[in-house]
Amino acid sequence: MISIRSVDKHFGDLHVLKDINLEVPTGQVVVMLGPSGSGKSTLCRTINRLEPVDSGTIAIDGSVLPDEGRALAKLRSEVGMVFQQFNLFAHKTVLENVMLAPIKVHKMKKDDARKRASELLERVGIANQADKYPAQLSGGQQQRVAIARSLAMDPKVMLFDEPTSALDPEMVNEVLEVMVELAREGMTMIVVTHEMGFASKAADRIIFMADGCIIEDSEPKKFFSEPETARARDFLGKIHGH
Ligand SMILES: Nc1ncnc2c1ncn2[C@@H]1O[C@H](COP(=O)(O)OP(=O)(O)O)[C@@H](O)[C@H]1O
Ligand SMILES: [Mg+2]
Repeated sequence: MISIRSVDKHFGDLHVLKDINLEVPTGQVVVMLGPSGSGKSTLCRTINRLEPVDSGTIAIDGSVLPDEGRALAKLRSEVGMVFQQFNLFAHKTVLENVMLAPIKVHKMKKDDARKRASELLERVGIANQADKYPAQLSGGQQQRVAIARSLAMDPKVMLFDEPTSALDPEMVNEVLEVMVELAREGMTMIVVTHEMGFASKAADRIIFMADGCIIEDSEPKKFFSEPETARARDFLGKIHGH
């Protein structure tokens, strides 16, 4: 479903992605770990071309991401992305936030978009907040709206970049539960997170990045019990030390 081949990227002199190769089959849940600055966010952003790459190819469901144009817009809509900041439209209601992109990008009829948005809000457990504005919701609820908004585009892949890092601790689980459910339903997912409970429960595979390279790629059980590299052992030690 996601095929990343020999991808390199620089920011000026900084080599942020070094010969990245990653094949993610349909339905797989990949949790991406690694120290701050290792390139996790950049890799996520290249997958839907929020960042261009210097060389190599990225394909989604067999189609190589083009550099620009209408084909890019279409492929980009197949990759949902949820960030740490929710980025909801402040002047639109929760329901309108979820309806917007399908109407604009997929030319969906307003009534159909409303019906679909209501179903998605139901699915993420906030149907009763549909007519409120984002600022009236808690952080956990806003992030669930952001997930519903991404799902409204019927993505083939969902990328999550530290989706719970900005949340108060008591709201983390309600967001993780939605993600666990999505994983169970067979969504292909790449998740950057420091939530090790989620990683061991929901991940099929752990990718560990350091200095722009993927240095470990293994099953969660193996990664957590016997990481191969000193970098990963050091990282896990720090996380568990908290
Ligand atoms: N737009 C940018 N311009 C220049 N440097 C950047 C930019 N975005 C990220 N970087 C740098 O690239 C490296 C990787 O960043 P990032 O992908 O955000 O890492 P991570 O998500 O693993 O913390 C860091 O050194 C960061 O400072
Ligand atoms: Mg990051």
